Amino acid sequence: MSIRPVTHEARATPTMEGAGVKLHRAFGFHDPKRHDPFLLFDDFRGERPGDYQAGFPWHPHRGIETITYVLAGTVEHGDSLGNRGRLGAGDVQWMTAGSGILHQEMPSGNARGQMHGFQLWANLPSHLKMTQPRYQDVKGRDIPEILEDDGTVVKVIIGDFWGKAGPVDGIAAEPLYLDIYVPPGRRKVFPVDTRRNAFAYVFEGAGKFADAANPRGVLLEKEVRGQEVNIRDMSGNRTLVQFGNGDEVTVTAGPDGIRFLLVAGAPIKEPVAWHGPIVMNTAEEIRQAVKELRNGTFIQPAH
Ligand code: FE2
Repeated sequence: MSIRPVTHEARATPTMEGAGVKLHRAFGFHDPKRHDPFLLFDDFRGERPGDYQAGFPWHPHRGIETITYVLAGTVEHGDSLGNRGRLGAGDVQWMTAGSGILHQEMPSGNARGQMHGFQLWANLPSHLKMTQPRYQDVKGRDIPEILEDDGTVVKVIIGDFWGKAGPVDGIAAEPLYLDIYVPPGRRKVFPVDTRRNAFAYVFEGAGKFADAANPRGVLLEKEVRGQEVNIRDMSGNRTLVQFGNGDEVTVTAGPDGIRFLLVAGAPIKEPVAWHGPIVMNTAEEIRQAVKELRNGTFIQPAH
């Protein structure tokens, strides 16, 4: 077994998206190879309705899958084919856009005005880019949760992990998508097989993942106790952590514990032609999609 080192670490960047939603983007729109098969990751989290309620009105998608995970508030979605749904706290929607959908995604806050969700984009291989659109809506209660004796909690949203299988299936990128909490001071090791690219996104607390200077990802005793801690030396809130080769990820939680998403997928290794929410292999396929949007033939008849 070999521990994956951290190869890149960065804070998510404040961005405005949709009709004026303030969010933080961990990656997207620059180097599609870096996280292959994943293209983009957004953290939309707000305490005030004015920051998010304008939402993401009608827009197209083609050639990708979008994965939405809601932690607080709700997201109402609807598409031009008449599909409607409502994601509440803890729910997940895996949408395979395939040949194309036109949809809107409208967040609203909980009773305290809070909204928190994540959206990940996964690429589709060329032979599935024009597949029929498909939704997999998963209620939070149907997501298997692993509770360890030491207080560690792992929600298996997709993939097989520690003997549990997540409820989303038939996904091209064979992804693993876990929501993990590790209590203060605990060091944990999570298997992630070598064929996959992997990243973590920290959204509560802080901790240390293995890197070249700290290959086992351990914390000093004083760091665990929260004394003389420079929290900036740890991976904290809104940090994207990209891993190199290996078959395990390890982290030691700081004095407040750490909660993060651990996401991994098999790289597709194909050319990427990217135009906003449409991601194809060639510029010609993008031109075709834009033409179809203009002349009203973007939505393909069911086959
Ligand atoms: Fe969308």
